[in-house]
Amino acid sequence: MTSPMIPIARVTLLGGEDEAAALVVRSGWLAQGKEVEQFEAAAARIAGRSHAAACSSATTALHLAALLAGVGPGDEVIFPSYTFAATANAIIYCGATPVPAGADPLTWNLDVEDAIRRVSSRTKAIIAVHQIGLPMALTKLEDFCRRRNIRLIEDAACAIGGMVDGRPAGSFGDISVFSFHPRKIMTAGEGGMVLVNDPGLAALARSLRNQGIEGGVHRRLGYNYRMTDLNAAIGNVQLRGLPTLLKGRREAGERYQQAFAGIPGICLQPDPPEGRHTWQSYGFSLDGPLRHRRAEFLARLGEQGITAKPGVPPVHLEPYFRERWQASLPITEDLDRRAVLIPIWSSMSAEEIARVIGAVTNAARGLSS
Ligand SMILES: Cc1ncc(COP(=O)(O)O)c(C=O)c1O
Repeated sequence: MTSPMIPIARVTLLGGEDEAAALVVRSGWLAQGKEVEQFEAAAARIAGRSHAAACSSATTALHLAALLAGVGPGDEVIFPSYTFAATANAIIYCGATPVPAGADPLTWNLDVEDAIRRVSSRTKAIIAVHQIGLPMALTKLEDFCRRRNIRLIEDAACAIGGMVDGRPAGSFGDISVFSFHPRKIMTAGEGGMVLVNDPGLAALARSLRNQGIEGGVHRRLGYNYRMTDLNAAIGNVQLRGLPTLLKGRREAGERYQQAFAGIPGICLQPDPPEGRHTWQSYGFSLDGPLRHRRAEFLARLGEQGITAKPGVPPVHLEPYFRERWQASLPITEDLDRRAVLIPIWSSMSAEEIARVIGAVTNAARGLSS
């Protein structure tokens, strides 16, 4: 009998999510309410922030973050091209110009020096992303932005529970964002969170997500970006179990790191000594004998029942973006040709992890010999 295909990710339920959602349904109050309030307070604590405003997704949360940063037509916003399109879309929603910056080929995160080189008199904000959950050191960029009066937005969509420079992901810069999409560390079905310390920004985020209402009247152009209590009830159960969810990912991530260290052609991401990777996804890049053989490598994993994918498609190469804003980022483009994602989730069994390790080792050794 052949073993079932191992998917790239699965949602880990902790138990109690269904009952929590059923209680909300039975209460008759399904829209934004007490569950959302509780979820916001818990998320703010995790991020070490004073205020949090829940939203319908991290995409809508990023749009609000850009508005809170004052981004508008005529402004430029620098962001890492090696990210999900949502990061760039938030800038475009505001009518501003997205300026893609390069990636560090080892961490896959924003190359801070490259971002700084792209600053102009029109730069309103920089968005930093903890890509696939590897928290990037942000204190230097935070200082730079403060000195230059540039807003720093932290896209921590993939990094809730991560630590870097002794601080939690979600605590850096002026405004941070989490995602609760099912593909993330923890889920609320769908959902996002805006995190700030400034009470004025928190009030503005709450108004913007709710049609611009403040004090019972429409003060500004707003949106319906609210989270429902149904989503927040699931999110509350998951957030209470965040340490368990992180522990499962960490165990799988560490087993992979140990198993793949020293395999010729596999270039591992560093698990930052000064921080804590959340392993929202598990990725490595191909080098040496495997540098130009990604398609064959992925095919060999597929033949062994393992779902594997190329890494993150760089935003500046996507058709919508390329037709409007040309950019050349050679290091990011090289990474794009070499990056691989393999399965990881919080409740992976020892057997599933062992199957993935066996398949990756076979594929690497088979193609190198
Ligand atoms: C870095 C990053 N930012 C933002 C998002 C958007 O998250 P959501 O699906 O909650 O809108 C994602 C989703 O994959 C992401 O990876």
